[in-house]
Parts: sequence; C-alpha cells; structure tokens
Amino acid sequence: MSSSLSILRVLVWAAVLGICNGGVTSQFTRKSGKPKVMPFGSDVFAIPPGYNAPQQIGFGSCFQCHVPRALTPAEEDVLEAFAPAVPVLVVHITQGDDVGEGVIVMWITQDEPGSSTVLYGTTEDDLDRRSTDGSFRTYRFFNYTSGYIHHCHLRNLKYNTKYYYMVGIGLTTRMFCFITPPEVGLDVPYTFGLIGDLGQSYDSNVTLSQYEANGKGQTLLMVGDLSYADEHPYHDNRRWDTFGRFIERNIAYQPWIWAAGNHEIDFAPEIGETVPFKPYKHRYRTPYRVSHSTSPLWYSIKRASAYIIVLSSYSAYGKYTPQFKWLEAEFPKVNRSETPWLIVMLHSPWYNSYNYHYMEGESMRVMFESWFVKYKVDVVFAGHVHAYERSYRVSNIAYNVVNGKCTPVFDESAPVYITIGDGGNLEGLATNMTFPQPNYSAFREASFGYAMFEIKNRTHAYYEWHRNQDSVAVVADSMVFYNRYWYPIHES
Ligand SMILES: *[C@@H]1O[C@H](CO)[C@@H](O)[C@H](O)[C@H]1NC(C)=O
Ligand SMILES: *[C@@H]1O[C@H](CO)[C@@H](O)[C@H](O)[C@H]1NC(C)=O
Ligand SMILES: *[C@@H]1O[C@H](CO)[C@@H](O)[C@H](O)[C@H]1NC(C)=O
Ligand SMILES: *[C@@H]1O[C@H](CO)[C@@H](O)[C@H](O)[C@H]1NC(C)=O
Ligand SMILES: *[C@@H]1O[C@H](CO)[C@@H](O)[C@H](O)[C@H]1NC(C)=O
Ligand SMILES: *[C@@H]1O[C@H](CO)[C@@H](O)[C@H](O)[C@H]1NC(C)=O
Ligand SMILES: [Fe+2]
Repeated sequence: MSSSLSILRVLVWAAVLGICNGGVTSQFTRKSGKPKVMPFGSDVFAIPPGYNAPQQIGFGSCFQCHVPRALTPAEEDVLEAFAPAVPVLVVHITQGDDVGEGVIVMWITQDEPGSSTVLYGTTEDDLDRRSTDGSFRTYRFFNYTSGYIHHCHLRNLKYNTKYYYMVGIGLTTRMFCFITPPEVGLDVPYTFGLIGDLGQSYDSNVTLSQYEANGKGQTLLMVGDLSYADEHPYHDNRRWDTFGRFIERNIAYQPWIWAAGNHEIDFAPEIGETVPFKPYKHRYRTPYRVSHSTSPLWYSIKRASAYIIVLSSYSAYGKYTPQFKWLEAEFPKVNRSETPWLIVMLHSPWYNSYNYHYMEGESMRVMFESWFVKYKVDVVFAGHVHAYERSYRVSNIAYNVVNGKCTPVFDESAPVYITIGDGGNLEGLATNMTFPQPNYSAFREASFGYAMFEIKNRTHAYYEWHRNQDSVAVVADSMVFYNRYWYPIHES
C-alpha cells in the first residue's frame, strides 16, 4: 500500500475518532474490597487422597474424565516391557514440541519421589505408551523444602486427538486427559483464553471458575504473576504448592502458556535467596530450546494458526543481550503463510493509562516496538496492572531524541495492546486512572475478569473480555481483529 494512502487513512480515522480524545473509560463500578487470600484449608487446595498421590498436575485440554484406578494387566505389561524408570536429569525437547505434537507434564509428589513415568494413550482403558525421559528434582528456599517436582515429555502425539494420561505409577495413580491441537496451518480455528495476575484469592477462584464455565478456551495464555507466594512472610513457598493445587483442575486438562511476571522473581537477599526465578523455574517448565532460546523465560511456540512469542519483562533486553539477540532472530522466522496470527505475551504493559506501574514497560517498548510494527504483530497481551485496558493500533517509533516526535500515533501495522492483569491477585484492583484518557487507550475498566481470543481463519479473530462477576454470556468489551498480514484494514 502506498504511504500517501496510509497517511490519508490515518487522517480519516483521526477525524472519525476525534484526534485528541481517548476511547471509553467504563463507568461500571465493581463492588470490591481488597482480595482475600483463600486460607490453607480451602477446598481448592485439598491434597488428593492416597499415599504420595501426585498433585499440582500441570499442563494439558478437555473435560473432567477420571478418578484413580488400578493398573490393568495390559498396562502392567507395558511397564514390564520397559526398564524401570531411571531419572534423567538433562532433558532435550524434540522439535515436535513447538508445533503442538508434544506436551510437557509436570507434577509433584510429597512423601517420596515415586515414579517419574507417565502412561498415556488414546483409550482410557488402554494406556499403551510410556514416557521415557521423566525426572524429578527438589529445591530449597529459605527454610522451605519442596516436594519432588517431576516432569516429562510426551512426544509425537497425533493432532486433534484426545489422550488420557496417568501419573503416580506404582503408588497412588491419578488419570487426566487432554486434547492435542490441530496441525499448524492457515485457516485453523482455535481459541486461546487469557488470564493475568491470577493469585489465589477468592476473586482468583471466581475468575478461574468463570473461565471454565465459559468453556471456549482450548489453551490458556497466562501473562504472568502466578501464585503471589512472595507476598507471604519469607515468600512462604507453601503458597506455590497451594497455587499449583488450585489451578490443577484446569491445567491438568488444558495447556497453559506462561510468561514470567515480577512475582515470579522471588529475589529475597534479606533471607539469603539471591537466585532470581528459583521457585518458578523449578516448577514451571517451558519448551524454550525448541525455539533456540537459551532461557526458559523467553521462547516461542506455534499452535494451530498462531505463532506465540513470550518475552520476559524482568530479564535483560538491551542491545546485545541474549533476549535481544534471540528476538532479533525470531521475528524473521515467522511465516505468516503457516501461522497467520502473530501474538506476543509479556508481563509489563507498554501502553497503560492507569496510575499503577505507569511507564514501567517503557524501556522495553523503546527497544522492541519498531520490530513489532515491522513484523506486524497482531496483538500484545500483558498483565501487571490489576485492571483491564485495550489500546487502539498505535505506535511510537518515530522519535530520535531531537525530532520531538514522541507521541503515539495511529498505525495500521501496529498491534493492539491488551492489559489483562485482572485475574484476582492479592493486592486489589487498580482503580486510579490517568485523566484525560490518553488517545492511545480505546477502552479501560477496573474489574476482575478474563478474555477469549477466538481465531476463525487467516483473516478474522473474535476477541471478548468478560468480568468475573457477570454471567459468562455478558461481554464487557469486544473487538473483531483483522489479521495484520492477510487483511490489514482498519477494524471499525
Ligand atoms: C520458617 O521460618 C519462619 C520464621 O522463622 C517460621 O515461622 C516457619 O515456621 C519456618 N518454617 C519451617 C518449615 O521451618
Ligand atoms: C472455588 O470455586 C469452586 C468452583 O466454582 C467452588 O466449588 C469452590 O467452593 C470455591 N472455593 C473457594 C474457597 O472459594
Ligand atoms: C511458509 O509456509 C508455507 C506454508 O507452509 C510454505 O509453502 C512456504 O515455503 C514457507 N515459506 C518459507 C520462506 O519458508
Ligand atoms: C494523540 O495526541 C497527540 C497530541 O495531540 C497527537 O500528536 C497524536 O497524533 C495523537 N495520537 C493518536 C494516536 O491519536
Ligand atoms: C491517583 O494517582 C495519582 C498519581 O500517582 C495521585 O496523585 C493521586 O493521589 C491518586 N489518587 C488516589 C485517589 O489515590
Ligand atoms: C473468515 O471468518 C470470518 C468470520 O467468521 C468470515 O466472515 C469470513 O468470510 C471468513 N473468511 C474466509 C476466507 O473464510
Ligand atoms: Fe506484576
């Protein structure tokens, strides 16, 4: 498209939107108070029955499918056919994992290591395959010692297939199931759920319950700030365990894709804990090697029709740093004829108009924003600010220190920025906004909730944000996305 045409288009929108005014500040007020953390004895934290029962099962999509049961003779045969599981401490992830043919299963046993093997198969009564690379490890944090944290890979799975899997082999077993995604491709419909800053408050439980009741989400994109264990005395790591048990009811059936938030850092030199991200990295694995990343904190995956890039707001991103060099090499790899939708997840938002964390995302924006525009990222999901906000398609990349061009402008090649840090947290809603609403901000509201990004085909995706206190049918904000590569016209 010619640049004069795009200038004209910008002027037309400007006229339509009224250039100096931002969008809508919702007048909806939530009955709120500070979120209350669910106490240790809460039902959502219940430890599963049975000796050494696996808990905090992580990853994997479908509906409730099972109760514990004994191994069948056929499954015993499968186990016998293999050598006993020997923990392997170095794990390589197959190429398959980045396109949805593989999953990582994680779980914790408390009393003893038990088995790191997962039995799985496509029939509930015949789990004919067995993972071979399982391992476990533990960590200490101040005076806390973790349980045995296991993980393993299930590889070369068939697309669009329901798998059953069993953990806890040999002692108390538990069975779950998930559905693999469709093969990566151009017009593959797929729905991503979105939750940020979840925590383990009563509000967190309502958000997760509403997300589940909505039912459309096939994979959850979690934009960071998971357990908020660091807000408890001495970063009480038992709160990482309760968080794991809380979310198991969802994440054992449907994969969650993580970005690291500031509450994952757990940097506490006052109690001798100086290794950033220690509990998080021990507990939550990512398939980062597949995308040639050198850190689990930034990586990419392809899933259905989406290419998802996950960045770390709390790792170095200046020029020459590992994250910078990785991202520089990463964008050219995206093939929009294969994965039309380009999504970025990061924790600290670049376009935020609340008086919380204001401009904290600015330094990363300065480093990376021109790439986002050049490679036509469709949407950026962030959290951190405990509220909801959606931007127009804007960019702010013309500034060169002396030219004075330092305000965001409408830009059809730019992503929409969505802040969805409203999962439930522990600190309360961000209610204090900047006024007037800046002209990059399209819609903002201080309520808890979650969203759905429903990809229809290469050109269209439907997006909806829901408050957690409404019935699931109520849509509090929505937008039809037109793909920036295949259909880069203004979404009116
Ligand atoms: C850890 O230390 C804190 C503070 O001294 C104490 O309250 C807590 O009971 C200790 N926990 C364990 C597992 O020792
Ligand atoms: C959490 O939500 C679930 C499902 O809605 C409900 O059964 C459970 O009682 C809730 N627990 C707490 C502590 O709010
Ligand atoms: C992009 O993907 C399409 C569809 O898979 C393929 O035909 C094409 O060769 C790829 N382009 C590049 C540059 O790899
Ligand atoms: C926002 O307002 C500033 C100042 O009036 C203007 O320079 C800029 O182009 C506007 N940006 C958008 C996205 O409307
Ligand atoms: C809102 O934030 C502004 C800027 O930080 C501050 O000056 C003001 O006091 C805050 N208002 C309230 C009600 O907290
Ligand atoms: C893509 O999906 C949208 C929304 O469902 C539909 O209107 C459009 O016709 C579809 N485009 C193609 C090429 O199928
Ligand atoms: Fe945060």
